[in-house]
Amino acid sequence: MLKLNNVNSFYGSSHILHGVNLEVKEGQVVTLLGRNGMGKTTTMHSIIGFVSKVQGEILFEGQNMASLQSHQIAKKGIGIVPQGRRIFPNLTVTENLTVFADSKKGDWNLEKIFHYFPRLKEREKSHAGTLSGGEQSMLSIGRALMRNPKILLLDEPTEGLSPLMVSEVMDVLLKLKESGMSMLLVEQNISTALRIADDVYILSKGKVVFHDNPEELKNNMDIAYHHLALSS
Ligand SMILES: Nc1ncnc2c1ncn2[C@@H]1O[C@H](COP(=O)(O)OP(=O)(O)OP(=O)(O)O)[C@@H](O)[C@H]1O
Ligand SMILES: [Mg+2]
Repeated sequence: MLKLNNVNSFYGSSHILHGVNLEVKEGQVVTLLGRNGMGKTTTMHSIIGFVSKVQGEILFEGQNMASLQSHQIAKKGIGIVPQGRRIFPNLTVTENLTVFADSKKGDWNLEKIFHYFPRLKEREKSHAGTLSGGEQSMLSIGRALMRNPKILLLDEPTEGLSPLMVSEVMDVLLKLKESGMSMLLVEQNISTALRIADDVYILSKGKVVFHDNPEELKNNMDIAYHHLALSS
């Protein structure tokens, strides 16, 4: 469904991604792990057309996205839940959800969002800036779903959340996975990632240094300790 072939990305003269190969098949949840500054967000941004210089192929449903503008890429059905949520604090929950909605593309609408996120229903008229971190994360996910994407890219949706909220957000992502949604999930928390992933990649200094299924990563925890700075 989504395939990166030998992708090299640059910010000005800084060469950030070095020959990244990565694939998300239909219905799969693929997790991208790596420490701070290793290129996870740059990978996401390369896919959605936010990086001006990208070499190599980024194929979505067989079509190369590399030459398209970000709004054209979004229209093809690639949704993003950005790092740091980026909700509109002065708009209500409902306004945040509807502002970019594209109801013609699928069956995500307010009713379905509120079914998946009952917490958002309770806060529907509140200004988004008054929500807790976990609720804002759910709102950011809901807003992306309202565009009815075919694949969802999520950049650290559980960053900075309490363990309880991490688990609530992950429960929703597991439900989305059960419904067949394809996802590329950036995470720093390995146990969270392993709960949901069909396939795992680890990035280090802009290179893929590990790619296998979660079982293999569990059998090779020394790799995780090495690349993810976990204490053994
Ligand atoms: N707009 C930019 N201009 C120049 N360099 C950038 C820019 N954005 C990121 N970088 C650099 O690119 C490298 C990769 O950053 P990136 O944001 O992709 O990392 P990350 O893995 O998402 O990290 P984090 O876990 O902190 O979000 C870093 O060295 C960073 O300093
Ligand atoms: Mg990042």
